[in-house]
Amino acid sequence: MSTVLYPGSFDPFHLGHLDVVSQAAELFGSVVVAVMHNPDKPSGVFPTADRVEVARIACAHINGVTVEAFPGLAVDAAKKIGALCIVKGLRTPNDFEVEQQMAHTNFAISGVRTVYVPSDPSLSFLSSRYIRDIAANGGNISPLVPASVLSNVLAAFSPRSK
Ligand code: PNS
Repeated sequence: MSTVLYPGSFDPFHLGHLDVVSQAAELFGSVVVAVMHNPDKPSGVFPTADRVEVARIACAHINGVTVEAFPGLAVDAAKKIGALCIVKGLRTPNDFEVEQQMAHTNFAISGVRTVYVPSDPSLSFLSSRYIRDIAANGGNISPLVPASVLSNVLAAFSPRSK
């Protein structure tokens, strides 16, 4: 069994993320889901603590999975937990372009490698950005997020929480 780091912004955690966590847990045995900051994305809808809570609830049924927030670099988080590698999910060729550059950069600065898992094709259209947009406009996000966290995600968009 090895421990791997699955970093992301998870704003919010959705069924595609759950698929990657499940695959990584099956392959490696131990997965640390790292809730991190993506400098290319505007400040998240969800505070970090809420993203961690949602991911924890969503992954609670998978053995060997923990969820933590980490500041700073993904490679430092990977070293801190003694990870064998970073794991990323690939949905599209566009994901590959972005992830490949990040993977090479991370390896160049630290020696930490990245392993990709392909998204389940039935989930490869999922995007946190669209989920935020749909939820903010009162649309139906139930086909997109784990049922166990639907109410938590909706709560972030309820008028009282704004
Ligand atoms: O879910 P996302 O937004 O695609 O995840 C991107 C994330 C958070 C994994 C990436 O931005 C990241 O690794 N952030 C931590 C800072 C870091 O390590 N930057 C150097 C990247 S080469």
